[in-house]
Amino acid sequence: MSPTQFRGRFITFEGIDGAGKSTQIAAAVALLEARGIAVVQTREPGGTPLGERLRELLLHEPMHLETEAMLMFAARREHLAAKIEPALARGRWVVCDRFTDATYAYQVGGRGLDRDKFDVLEAWVHPNLQPDLTLVFDLSPELAAARMQAAGNAPDRFEREQRAFHERVRAAYLERAGRAPQRIRVIDAGREPAVIRAEVEAIVGGLCAA
Ligand code: TYD
Repeated sequence: MSPTQFRGRFITFEGIDGAGKSTQIAAAVALLEARGIAVVQTREPGGTPLGERLRELLLHEPMHLETEAMLMFAARREHLAAKIEPALARGRWVVCDRFTDATYAYQVGGRGLDRDKFDVLEAWVHPNLQPDLTLVFDLSPELAAARMQAAGNAPDRFEREQRAFHERVRAAYLERAGRAPQRIRVIDAGREPAVIRAEVEAIVGGLCAA
């Protein structure tokens, strides 16, 4: 058997702010662990000491949109090298709260970063790696904003953006999902959490069986 057959799976969770992915990530991790799978749970931007420092800047410091995109990918390069790739190589499954689809949705879709520049960065930072499965939690920005307001947390630089920004982010996620339907599953996040959870468990459970 070749070593690649022991490689773990890489699952990412995506969606506009307030779509409710945190609860569902916890459910997915619990399901995998109940099946005896060793999981590394992580997030972007962040996931390493350096990445978490970059996260602080990215979430709170105003910057040029290309600086923002490059810092997202810089944090990702570190994350892949220090955590994600070694974990997958050891056969661990990696569950990551956001990855490159978020850069496409937020920086290309939301901010208007040149698509060619995004393509160069993606091809540079992870030429041979994509998640095995990505769940996009899809919700109207109106509902997401109401949920975030009810939660009462202080909004970061992205959460403070106008409704139209979040509409563009949502549209970019759906557009990218349409181009990679095998990898990216769109989940209607406007339903009851228990209904969403059942769908998440079915999809993630299916990957365990594959
Ligand atoms: P997230 O951790 O989901 O926020 P929270 O802690 O509030 O749940 O994501 C942080 C923010 O970073 C989110 O608004 C989306 C943004 N982001 C990008 O703009 N580009 C990216 O590549 C990534 C990974 C995140």
